[in-house]
Amino acid sequence: MPTTYPVLLVEDDAAIATVIIAALEDEGFAIAHCTSIAARDKQLEQRRFGVMLTDVILEDGDGLASLSAVRDRAPDMPVIVLSAQNTLDTAVRASESEAFEYFPKPFDLDELLHAVRQAAGAREPAAGESSAVSQTESEKMPLVGRSPAMQGVYRMITRVLRNDLTVLVTGESGTGKELVAEAIHELGNRRTGPFVAVNTAAIPADLVESELFGHEKGAFTGAIAQAIGKFEQANGGTLFLDEIGDMPAEAQTRLLRALQSGRIRRVGGRQEIAVNVRIIAATNRDLTPMIAAGTFREDLFYRLNVVPIVLPPLRERREDIAALAQHFLGLAAEDGLPRRVLTADGIEQLEQRNWRGNVRELRNVVYRLALMAREERIDADCVNDVIGVEMAPNTVPQADGQGGFGAALTGWLAAETPPPGALYHRALAAFERPLIEYALGRTGGNQLRAAQLLGINRNTLRKRIGELGLEPDRFSTT
Ligand SMILES: Nc1ncnc2c1ncn2[C@@H]1O[C@H](COP(=O)(O)OP(=O)(O)O)[C@@H](O)[C@H]1O
Ligand SMILES: [Mg+2]
Repeated sequence: MPTTYPVLLVEDDAAIATVIIAALEDEGFAIAHCTSIAARDKQLEQRRFGVMLTDVILEDGDGLASLSAVRDRAPDMPVIVLSAQNTLDTAVRASESEAFEYFPKPFDLDELLHAVRQAAGAREPAAGESSAVSQTESEKMPLVGRSPAMQGVYRMITRVLRNDLTVLVTGESGTGKELVAEAIHELGNRRTGPFVAVNTAAIPADLVESELFGHEKGAFTGAIAQAIGKFEQANGGTLFLDEIGDMPAEAQTRLLRALQSGRIRRVGGRQEIAVNVRIIAATNRDLTPMIAAGTFREDLFYRLNVVPIVLPPLRERREDIAALAQHFLGLAAEDGLPRRVLTADGIEQLEQRNWRGNVRELRNVVYRLALMAREERIDADCVNDVIGVEMAPNTVPQADGQGGFGAALTGWLAAETPPPGALYHRALAAFERPLIEYALGRTGGNQLRAAQLLGINRNTLRKRIGELGLEPDRFSTT
């Protein structure tokens, strides 16, 4: 049911305005349209509006930074922000300004209409309206990149800043999961409390519980003194449970119990202790098959997956590579490395790569480039010199189809003249080497995780690494 008051649209992009006006008129809304902040304020002085839709960058200023002027004139009018300035900064400023909704461009028109309808229906005179719009220009935000793929991530982040909902961040290794967790903490309600991170994969299985919940003196061999666990350390703040997919079964059960009750018990302790923590969990594993296989508790999954945030791999947001590379060059210079500039073809070269190690790999490569480049300018040749020309994608093992393997093997046999009796082992080595390198690359050289990824025994993997003369350290990304 459309509001009796018209909708004010502040948008200087004529094409976008036309589309929105047509859609809103179809829904029965009356619309006033203007293209500047000055015209907006004049409109607001003249009459009442049910909802205002506003762009951020307008011809005479920042539509978001000037929202306090809107609040002065129409304190209880819902505001919907539309923006092509797709940074986390804009999303956060929009959410802090109590804008009703934030729509990064390109947005889904149906979603926008839905929001307008809701805003029009949900109007209540809001007492104590806030005019506390952050006037500071683009504060330094932790996450770089404006690709459409990251817009969903930013929107989800803004939705969890003012509540304590549990967040599950998933995505390949190096996509920025930990950074997202930090951003939620730093920008959210709990920023004054501690941020405590635990990496489940890095703790021996039998110590996970003691690490999380602490232990009493003498609880087990080696527990020579009482220890406070991460849950208690994070009290009042955020607990980041990294690599949650690697958590042993027993610890999963205790974690679930703690999440359900909001209380923990130190290992060997009798008393339950109430803790107030916001949980953000992360994993690079696909938990669905693990749930099916019974290695990850389904009830824990649902408990953690209240707000899912999925980080896209870097190869699915190549638009971000240039900005990220520049960002890391700046950081490298701050860290004392020579200040370099990337040429357009240098950036293009980076954009074409696969980045299986995602943003972390890009960061390390950029640091290496800053260190190794012989000239101030880093161009395509320099990129290829320093990090090598990448393997063509079709030499990477493909799971689909036999054609790739069969053809590759035929080619290999044609080229190879092994001594009699060695063919089988040579072929296996040729096959295994890229496979193991791939697994090590995916896991940053972590042999335990590489073995898990391959589905082979860790000792078998270690043996083969030795036999093939591979250097796992070469794949380390930290
Ligand atoms: N969007 C981003 N903008 C800037 N730096 C990023 C971004 N995503 C990841 N990074 C950086 O890349 C590295 C890996 O990120 P991290 O959060 O540790 O990844 P994950 O936890 O998913 O493995 C870190 O140095 C992080 O600061
Ligand atoms: Mg991580």
